[in-house]
Amino acid sequence: MPIFYNDSTREFHLQTDKTSYIFNVLENGQLGQLYYGKKLRHRKSFQRLFHIEATPNTACVNEGDLVFSLDILKQEYPAFGTTDFREPAYQVLQENGSRITHFVYQDHSILQGKNKLEGLPATYVESEDEAATLEISLYDKEIDVEIRLSYTVFDELNAITRSARFINHGQAEVNVARAMSASIDLPDSNFEMVQLSGAWSRERHIKNRKLVPGIQSIASTRGTSSAQHNPFLALKRPETTEHQGEVYGVSLVYSGNFLAQVEVDHYDVSRLMIGINPFEFNWLLKSGEDFQTPEVVLVYSAEGLNSMSQTFHRLFRTRLARGQWRDRERPVLINNWEATYFDFDEKKIFELAKASKALGVELFVLDDGWFGKRDSDTTSLGDWAPDARKLPNGLTQLAKDINGLGMEFGLWFEPEMVSKVSELYKAHPEWVIRVPNRQMSHGRNQLVLDFSRQEVVDYIHGLMAGVLRDAPISYVKWDMNRYMTEVGSLSLPADRQREVAHRYILGVYSLYERLTAEFPHVLFESCAGGGSRFDPGMLHYAPQGWTSDDTDAVERLKIQYGTSLVYPISSMGAHVSAVPNHQVGRMTSLETRANVAYFGAFGYELDVTMMTEAEKETVKQQIAFYKENRSLIQQGRFYRIESPFAEDGNRTSWVAVSEDQREAMLGFYQVLAQPNPGLTRIFFKGLNPEFEYAIEGMDDTFYGDELMAAGFQLNRIRSNEHPSDFSSIVLKLKQV
Ligand code: DGJ
Repeated sequence: MPIFYNDSTREFHLQTDKTSYIFNVLENGQLGQLYYGKKLRHRKSFQRLFHIEATPNTACVNEGDLVFSLDILKQEYPAFGTTDFREPAYQVLQENGSRITHFVYQDHSILQGKNKLEGLPATYVESEDEAATLEISLYDKEIDVEIRLSYTVFDELNAITRSARFINHGQAEVNVARAMSASIDLPDSNFEMVQLSGAWSRERHIKNRKLVPGIQSIASTRGTSSAQHNPFLALKRPETTEHQGEVYGVSLVYSGNFLAQVEVDHYDVSRLMIGINPFEFNWLLKSGEDFQTPEVVLVYSAEGLNSMSQTFHRLFRTRLARGQWRDRERPVLINNWEATYFDFDEKKIFELAKASKALGVELFVLDDGWFGKRDSDTTSLGDWAPDARKLPNGLTQLAKDINGLGMEFGLWFEPEMVSKVSELYKAHPEWVIRVPNRQMSHGRNQLVLDFSRQEVVDYIHGLMAGVLRDAPISYVKWDMNRYMTEVGSLSLPADRQREVAHRYILGVYSLYERLTAEFPHVLFESCAGGGSRFDPGMLHYAPQGWTSDDTDAVERLKIQYGTSLVYPISSMGAHVSAVPNHQVGRMTSLETRANVAYFGAFGYELDVTMMTEAEKETVKQQIAFYKENRSLIQQGRFYRIESPFAEDGNRTSWVAVSEDQREAMLGFYQVLAQPNPGLTRIFFKGLNPEFEYAIEGMDDTFYGDELMAAGFQLNRIRSNEHPSDFSSIVLKLKQV
């Protein structure tokens, strides 16, 4: 069991294959933190490593004692106002107006495996020996409230998950005003904070900043995890690179408003915390009620960012994502959005499907515009019945016809929204997120349905399940195209209005839960105006997500590279689209567009009927190539080699290596051509040094150690004589 407890020293030691996480019960009963980092051999006590002494000009807990102060002690789940002056992990407001609490260790239990988090997405085990869980009860006897901290140690996968549950055993009401999922005090501040930030169409760009004293944070207040900041944060040493050095990564399994922050205190201790954004949040806990925080996944790596990413990839791909599609090769799809937008009918759709089938596409996805009177984005959301003008023979018939071609059929929904111009809004104007007597702002002409109301979720479930039962649908793209404003629910009392944003997300999860259970054969792809809700919470239900509305091959290098910091390649929807590109107007070759999109859940999003015969031939080959290699790409280990975020950033390269290291797929991309570039080499990663590899299309063979240490000279396969912008190479390696 990778969890040790020593009764005499009251120390806990959580140990994975490569990491140790150690904390203890302090003399006043609160939990103190001792160590998180590289694995330490287990011993009875680690306390001699941590010696405290009196510090000047502070506040102390015990009368007559100038040493014991929470101001200088690292905390496990810190409280504010009792000698710790940093921001706390939680705050509980009491009926008398006090926010002072004293939660002390009560007891703990250790079990094999992992319990479910009721109503929330979370990592899981398939057999009990995969992980062990520690649950610690902290209790404040004054208010009769318990906090149950939960830790799961995935020893082999090298990750630890944490969450907290607040339980009101008392008679009086309390308010949970802040409830972070985890807090970690690291003993120094020699770190850079790494975040994934951006905006619509440039999601999850990697940004680094050096820590300074005070608070530095990222957050969402938009109702979704957002394109602006991803619910992830890493602290890396300044010298840490992709392949060496220390890094701590935290990733929140949540899709709503979050906060991730680091507070560097006056002794250079870095307090890292992540959880639901406390701004605009409050949870009323009546007698007997409880509140569960989302789960956070903690990963420490002493071997650079890439190894942290591989840990997240493995855990998320195999023990966060679920269902029949989790381990299956993803189908090559075509989506009609950029081909037609709203302007289509069944004839056009069938033509597109037929033409793409001839090229090898396996799944046809009918995007926005198939329901109500949806000729533009001003109408019909909420009216999930097929539009008989566009589909006179019905949606079911169209799906059957497409099945008849030998293709699967997929459909777009935006379940959480309603248009003002719709039958649903006419019937239920009270079913939207809003506050009384205030105007409602809109986004893309639409309003957000109040998913905190059970009847709203039930109603949408009924409509969607009806469509999914009627038509042979094997894929659903679940979109969400606006952020929330004027957040409130007409069905909740005044003292529960700050619960709405979280209750909304719980409603979304419950609908996903029901639909994925009822239609287990359906592959769900999450989407939010591109990648505005691309997070671990969604990944639990939808094993792939639409990475970004930006389909330009050059832009996608940064987006996919950044996304890969946390999310597996199999989770990133990546499509070849038309040129000039619809988002940035750039012209790139069909080859480069595919070479980028191969490193994701691959598909096309253009009008194939408009392509020349030569282009169709190329597409046919691309699809055949992807099918042959998709298990390697989707399930292999991903190594980033050259970063588009580097100072020059002109080159990007990465390689996917199969688990057994017998096969690898390199992607190399150069944005602008260079005159007289000299000899360029790629240094492979992750190969087996002892294996001899053949590179497709070449007679020579190379050993893994040669390709990794001496590198592969690219001009062997690409002449420098006719350079062009936006060039790329994909190379397949196979052990001979
Ligand atoms: C936003 C999505 O990201 C697009 O792919 C497309 O589905 C549109 N919405 C449709 O409205």
